[in-house]
Amino acid sequence: MRMTTPDIAPPNALLQRLASLGNTITRVTSGGPNPLGIHVDKLLGPVESLIDGRHTLMFGTNSYLGLNFHPDCKNAAIEATRQFGTGSTASRVASGNHLAHENLERQIADLYGRPDAVVFSTGFMANLGVISALAREGDAILLDSHCHASIFDACKLSGAKVVTFRHNDAADLDAQFAASGVPSSRTLVVVEGLYSVWGDLADLPPIVESCKRHGALLLVDEAHAMGVYGANARGVAELQGVEDDVDVIVGTFSKSVGVIGGFCVTNNPALKALRFMARSYLYTASLPPPVVAAASAALNLIKNDPGLRERLWNNARRFNEGLREIGLDLCAEAGPIGGVRMRDTRHGLAFWHTLLNSGIYVNIMVPPSTPEGQVILRFSVSAAHTPDQIETALGIFRQTAGMLAAA
Ligand SMILES: Cc1ncc(COP(=O)(O)O)c(C=O)c1O
Repeated sequence: MRMTTPDIAPPNALLQRLASLGNTITRVTSGGPNPLGIHVDKLLGPVESLIDGRHTLMFGTNSYLGLNFHPDCKNAAIEATRQFGTGSTASRVASGNHLAHENLERQIADLYGRPDAVVFSTGFMANLGVISALAREGDAILLDSHCHASIFDACKLSGAKVVTFRHNDAADLDAQFAASGVPSSRTLVVVEGLYSVWGDLADLPPIVESCKRHGALLLVDEAHAMGVYGANARGVAELQGVEDDVDVIVGTFSKSVGVIGGFCVTNNPALKALRFMARSYLYTASLPPPVVAAASAALNLIKNDPGLRERLWNNARRFNEGLREIGLDLCAEAGPIGGVRMRDTRHGLAFWHTLLNSGIYVNIMVPPSTPEGQVILRFSVSAAHTPDQIETALGIFRQTAGMLAAA
């Protein structure tokens, strides 16, 4: 029998859903630049750029140490490109495993004082690979409700039962062990060191204590904290003195290290098998030579140049203090990341537009990127900001707050 195709195909529900999301974005962002579609004409340095022809101070990158423009890192990338080319063109288990990858893993393992490390192509992939390799159907993952999307996606991928606990609330974590209905010996707990929207730190000691009491594994994602917190820049677990009780640490090279890539370290010899269980390690191309070389140079600087962190912290403290003086509602203490709570989306967008039109770029976060229905202006501070740039930005925040309060 001949099949006939109808003249008019029925509307496709998948496309309709996307179209409706597109309409919502257009409606919310009408009347000004679209926060999801900023065009950076040209980067002028780690914290300066041209946006629509206007010189703009960047307070919305994750370049906490400014290393993406450091001469050592740029030169290392250029030299590696000359010698080894632009890409690895294969997964590590195929033909993409270079000596430089192994050396980078050694550097990370040494930084953390751990026997071994695994490097991934992004931090997102590190979470996908590590979490889905550790947990599976029949297991449980308890995660802080403010965790990053990559952690939520990794949990879904694992097939384990996923239960969130209230942000930074060890008592609620305790309660969820029982509520999950899964033996705690089959449970993985996931938190971050420094949370990426509010800029607040995990309170790790009671979380560690709860995991130990229940015999659960603890994974800490130090994506935003590595390079910034702790005596050796290893992150919040180091700062709070609980490193030995954290089973797995995940991190990224896309923030303070200034390139791209992810990693994980653990004391457990099982890590050797994890490498071959992590599909986001096995089935994707490895980091390109220039990226590996720049990451390695950046890790040397993090280890040997404490002045970088000193400048970051001076800037972070002054910026936090200045914003508080203006009367803005800050989510956390001084640090490389900060969040200003806005009363609603309209006010947040107006604040964000005005800052941008005055030459200051910050991020605006709305649900589902923000927890619990909040609108947040998220900023980040860098060692690369000069004290003058910090004062200029504070002046513009002050003017904007005054103008919008009067409107
Ligand atoms: C906590 C956390 N983990 C992982 C990632 C993913 O890192 P990457 O950008 O290297 O993929 C991010 C990114 O912002 C993050 O905030």
